[in-house]
Amino acid sequence: MTDRPHRKQQIRSAFDRAAASYDAAALVQRCISDELARLATRHPCHRQVERALDAGCGTGYGLQWLSDSMPQALRIALDFAPAMLARVESQADPDPDRVALCADIESLPLAGASLDVAWSSLALQWCDPAAAFIELARVLRPGAHAWIATLGPRTLWELREGFSAVDDADHVIHFHAPEHWIDAARMSGFRVLESDRRTIPALAGTLRGLLRDIKAIGAHSVGPQRRRAPLGRAAWRRLETDYERHRREDGLLPATYDVILLALEKSGDPA
Ligand SMILES: C[S@@+](CC[C@H](N)C(=O)[O-])C[C@H]1O[C@@H](n2cnc3c(N)ncnc32)[C@H](O)[C@@H]1O
Repeated sequence: MTDRPHRKQQIRSAFDRAAASYDAAALVQRCISDELARLATRHPCHRQVERALDAGCGTGYGLQWLSDSMPQALRIALDFAPAMLARVESQADPDPDRVALCADIESLPLAGASLDVAWSSLALQWCDPAAAFIELARVLRPGAHAWIATLGPRTLWELREGFSAVDDADHVIHFHAPEHWIDAARMSGFRVLESDRRTIPALAGTLRGLLRDIKAIGAHSVGPQRRRAPLGRAAWRRLETDYERHRREDGLLPATYDVILLALEKSGDPA
């Protein structure tokens, strides 16, 4: 028995609702995209790129890098949240070389071996690693590159630890270890060109501010435990007080993102 379709629908709805507030709160997400761009620049695709995919494009930040780096390519902006895709269409200049596709990364409506590169920043952690990589490997040509940023198990560890001291609910989703992603990529037919891991903190003056930003990007309310009662006043006060021990010298509170970056090449002989 699985509630995966239901959970996927929850994730999709959360991102749909967050589309309007996403850009203003997505500082860490921008920073991670910029890291991914540096990784991709170190491992460029040496072939002429005809079609490039941004898998889980959100409001479209990564599409700009794809457009700057491979202006001749048709860019496929793919996301399963229609409101995110609507932001792509409304923000950017009309671009005849960009098509929007509302679809699930785990079931891509694209022909096999039809793409030269795939970029995906902070979307795959919402997917089953094997299912996502099998699909990406299917649609990429041999020799094509995939550049992936996803999240590791230490992500938001301060929040997980804080919440676990005040109630039994699981407030923060669980993320796979780098080895899990690497194994899934290899099993799906990718060669790992580089894997990297780094921590990037989200910062705010208060715990409420940190949680507000997480909500604004759509990553809230999709924890593994679906129904939970709101925290009582006493529990919230304790959480806030305990969290103070993480306050940095610059006066800000951090919530850590454990970022996994992968540069991959689809195995097989380029045609
Ligand atoms: C945190 S946002 C990142 C957006 C963008 N890549 C960025 O860096 O700003 C994650 C995006 O992935 C999308 N997403 C999550 N799971 C997905 C799936 N299975 N199929 C397609 N899109 C998905 C969400 O709708 C959301 O827009």
